[in-house]
Amino acid sequence: MQLSGSVAIVTGGASGLGEATVREFAANGASVAIFDMNAERGEQLAKELGSNVIFAPVNVTDENSVSEGIARTIEKFGSLSICVNCAGIATATKTVGRNGPHPLADFTKTLDINLNGTFNVLRLAAVEMAKNDANENGERGVIVNTASVAAFEGQKGQAAYAASKGGIAALSLPVARDLAYNGIRCCAIAPGLFLTPLFEALGQDVCVELAKDVTFPKRLGKPSEFASLARTIVENAYLNGETIRLDGAIRLA
Ligand SMILES: NC(=O)c1ccc[n+]([C@@H]2O[C@H](COP(=O)([O-])OP(=O)(O)OC[C@H]3O[C@@H](n4cnc5c(N)ncnc54)[C@H](O)[C@@H]3O)[C@@H](O)[C@H]2O)c1
Repeated sequence: MQLSGSVAIVTGGASGLGEATVREFAANGASVAIFDMNAERGEQLAKELGSNVIFAPVNVTDENSVSEGIARTIEKFGSLSICVNCAGIATATKTVGRNGPHPLADFTKTLDINLNGTFNVLRLAAVEMAKNDANENGERGVIVNTASVAAFEGQKGQAAYAASKGGIAALSLPVARDLAYNGIRCCAIAPGLFLTPLFEALGQDVCVELAKDVTFPKRLGKPSEFASLARTIVENAYLNGETIRLDGAIRLA
């Protein structure tokens, strides 16, 4: 599917990997709706990028909020054919810690935002994509989700985060199968360690230390490299049902 002339929504588009994706897509001729809860950053980015980018205040866990965001996108740009899910939170709590068992509410919240939120957005976006006229490849839409290498090698304290990301990795294939009839593809990217506000806040020394575990190149990933893969997934009609690691060959202990 061509980016140019397509309409995309990017959840978590106000920051980090999502923001880089918004920039890449807009620079290559797509109209983009930023779905995020951070209105200040989202509005600012939309203003910076011009009239083919809008911000919609969306909580991915809330059905009405997502439906309103999608309706606003279609009202402004006329259709929807690309959905990139980047909204997520990173949590770190041990299964049993000093204060007792992992609070169930924290586990549920992580699953709710990362996994349920992803599925909530993709199902509502897919309904709209299915209404599109098929292109010459029979495609009507593309969904790109964001897993993590924690889906495969979760660390201490990552039971909730790894479970949420494992769920995202697991649903690529069944969603691709469900939506094949509609001409909609679904893939996930499993990033390793990326230099987003999350890591920037840790400082230069910590980033250098973390980068030592990366096989090659020995550095954290750039958000633009994530955006570039998201673009490739959109453009390559034969990529479907797969979770692709993007990690400089890091294999966490
Ligand atoms: N940065 C990394 O190294 C890395 C590695 C692996 C996976 N990931 C995943 O990539 C995604 C993006 O990470 P990032 O580093 O860019 O993080 P980030 O914190 O920079 O951006 C996440 C964005 O999601 C938004 N968000 C959070 N909850 C939301 C909700 N309920 N509804 C709508 N928006 C919401 C936030 O406001 C924020 O703008 C996450 O799913 C994260 O788990 C990141």
